[in-house]
Amino acid sequence: MKKYAVITGASSGIGKEFAKILAKEGYALALTARRGDRLRKMAKHLKTECRIVEADLTKEEDCYRLYQSVAELPVAVWINNAGFGHCGTFKEGELEKELDMISVNVRAVHLLTKLVLKKMERQNYGSILNVASCAGLMPAGPYMATYYATKSYVTSLTRAIAEELRYEGSPVYLGCLCPGPVNTEFNEVAEVEFALKGISPAWCARYGYQQMKQGKTVIVPTFSMKAAVTLGRFLPETLYIRIAAHQQKKKKSGRRI
Ligand SMILES: NC(=O)c1ccc[n+]([C@@H]2O[C@H](COP(=O)([O-])OP(=O)(O)OC[C@H]3O[C@@H](n4cnc5c(N)ncnc54)[C@H](OP(=O)(O)O)[C@@H]3O)[C@@H](O)[C@H]2O)c1
Repeated sequence: MKKYAVITGASSGIGKEFAKILAKEGYALALTARRGDRLRKMAKHLKTECRIVEADLTKEEDCYRLYQSVAELPVAVWINNAGFGHCGTFKEGELEKELDMISVNVRAVHLLTKLVLKKMERQNYGSILNVASCAGLMPAGPYMATYYATKSYVTSLTRAIAEELRYEGSPVYLGCLCPGPVNTEFNEVAEVEFALKGISPAWCARYGYQQMKQGKTVIVPTFSMKAAVTLGRFLPETLYIRIAAHQQKKKKSGRRI
C-alpha cells in the first residue's frame, strides 16, 4: 500500500529537502506552504505523486483544511516544519508579526500534532517530527525573544507527549528536530545574518530523518550544537542568557539593537 508523507513549509529550506528525501524513500507526498507556485514547480522534479495544498498556517481554518485534505489517506510521516523568526528588541518588534509567528510556530504545530497523532493511533502506525530549534533548548533568547519562546513551546510539548506515548506503548513516534544555524531563507525572513557558520538544509534534513527512524525524541544536528546545549546545562542561567543575547546581537550585521 502506498503511504503518504506530509510536509509543512515545503516550499524552501529544510522542508524542501525533507520532500526530496521522502520522495526518494518512496512516499507519496502532500506538500504545503503559501507559495503554491514553488510547490508545483518542485513537484515536477520529484519522482512521486505530489498533492499540493496551498495554506497559510497563521489561519486556523487553513490548518483544518490541510488536515482534512489528507485525513482519509494512510499518512505514515508528518513533518511540522513551517516556521519563521524575527530579530530585534521586544519593545520595537511588530506585534502583528509576533502574533503570526506564534500562530505558525506554536498554534499550528499544536493543532496539527493533536489531529495527526489521533489519526496515526487509529491507523496503528506513524511518525510526527516537529521542527523546533536549538533555541528551544535554551532558557531564553534576548533580541529574538518571541522566536525562542515559540521553539521552547515546541520542544517542551514534544518531549511531554513523547513520554506519554512511551508510557502507553503507542505505535506512534513523536520527536523534535533542533538545529542550530542552517543556510536557508530563514535569515532573509528574519532579517539577520548568522553569527555562527550554518549547515546545509540537505544535511540537516537527512540527519533529522535518520534519527527519526531510530526513534530519537530530541534531535540536535552537529557536534558543536550538541556541545553548546550540553554546556548550557552547567552554566548559571543568567550567564547563558547573556551569552545568547551577545550571539543574537551579532546577527544584526551592522545594525544597532
Ligand atoms: N534556518 C535555520 O537556521 C533554522 C534553525 C533552527 C530551526 N529552524 C526551523 O526550521 C523550519 C524551516 O525553516 P527554514 O530554515 O527552512 O526556513 P525557510 O527556508 O524560510 O522555510 C520556511 C518555510 O515555512 C513556510 N512558512 C512560513 N510561514 C508560513 C505560513 N504562514 N504558512 C505556511 N507556511 C509558512 C515557508 O513557506 P511559504 O513562505 O511559501 O509559506 C517555507 O516553506 C522553521 O520552523 C525554522 O524555525 C531553522
